[in-house]
Amino acid sequence: MGAPEPGPSLVLTGLRAAASPAGTDAPLRGSDLGRVDVQEPAAIAVVDGRIAAVGAPEDVLRDHGGLEQVDCRGAVAIPGLVDCHTHPAFGGDRAAEFDLRAQGADYERIHASGGGIRSTVAATRGLAAAGLDEATAEHLGWMAANGTTTAEGKSGYGLDRDTELASLAAVAGPHPIATVPTYLGAHSVPPEFGSADEYLDFVLAEVLPDAAARAEHADVFLERGAFSAEQADRYLRAAMEQGLVARLHGDQFTESGAIPLAVELGARSVDHLEATGPAGVAAIAASEVAAVLLPVAALYLRRTQPPARALLDAGAVVALATDFNPGSAFCDSLPVVMTLACTALGMTPGEALAACTVNAAWVLGRAAGIGRLAPGFDADIVLLDAPDWRHVAYHLAGRDIAAVYARGDRLAVRR
Ligand code: NIG
Ligand code: FE
Repeated sequence: MGAPEPGPSLVLTGLRAAASPAGTDAPLRGSDLGRVDVQEPAAIAVVDGRIAAVGAPEDVLRDHGGLEQVDCRGAVAIPGLVDCHTHPAFGGDRAAEFDLRAQGADYERIHASGGGIRSTVAATRGLAAAGLDEATAEHLGWMAANGTTTAEGKSGYGLDRDTELASLAAVAGPHPIATVPTYLGAHSVPPEFGSADEYLDFVLAEVLPDAAARAEHADVFLERGAFSAEQADRYLRAAMEQGLVARLHGDQFTESGAIPLAVELGARSVDHLEATGPAGVAAIAASEVAAVLLPVAALYLRRTQPPARALLDAGAVVALATDFNPGSAFCDSLPVVMTLACTALGMTPGEALAACTVNAAWVLGRAAGIGRLAPGFDADIVLLDAPDWRHVAYHLAGRDIAAVYARGDRLAVRR
């Protein structure tokens, strides 16, 4: 393989403003999390797909006036959004289950009776690898149209060796946006295994070594009806030995030990936390483990939202994500998540922005290169046709997104 093509060089001019989480640290905690630097008016110079300068137009043009200029006609720039928790590799849909749940059916009971995740496993196994590539690319395209320029993507709807490895390859791409593959081998016990322990024997012996070569993270659904804390411990320790970063789906319905296990293992994050109580809040806030909040999943399953304010006030590393998946969160839009953060989670727009940029990038191990509009960072930029950057959260569903740049390339997105 040759060296990657250098990205484009250009100057974005005519920006009403450029807004970016303040400071240079990552992750952001406490009061640092809500601070946003706004440069007004602004220009952004991009050299070889990376940001070379952000500042007053006259300063940027003095140094970079020789580059191609793109007039942004009064748009507001924010960093490309980072979705640190998504499940894009699946076939089929769950519209019928959505209908049943609207009539009062319970998500956990549907799962226990072989529907839910298992029905998506059947549909995903039914796709050939090319079909899985196509479905995954389509889902990532939806995210890009909503301003996501880096997405984590989990496997977990194959649960057999071939479909899991094909899912990781489908996430890896290449795609117009950057991706981070996560092996969610421990999502659910597939029907051909009698017990979770038997299934994990197979995962550790037959799948993990090859999955580890294709993924950066390993994830487990630690919950009643899925995997116990003991089983999660076994799976994650084996994954970490293979060089993977540990993540957990935890405290979604019950507090089943995800936070203590994550702290003990030095996991990167616990995601969901709808059921987390004060002791869990204190424990995760005192640790290096990020709390990844997924407000769309709580909305879809009619659960109490996670204790976002308590987590933020206790100083936890808080990130937000869509949890895009066909069951509990069929939502590819981080702007929708930001609106929910500001309306249902008690977060400010500044906190929501940092949680979808700097802190999400930190969860993905990318905080030095993405998540800010700053020199040296990838030229991942969202342009808003709005008078103020806060419209990304204020105007529901990302209505104001006018353009999305990924490493300096303007994406051809369909909105
Ligand atoms: O993050 N909780 C487990 N996994 C997904 C949902 C999977 C599904 O319903 O298909 C989640 O919510
Ligand atoms: Fe999830």
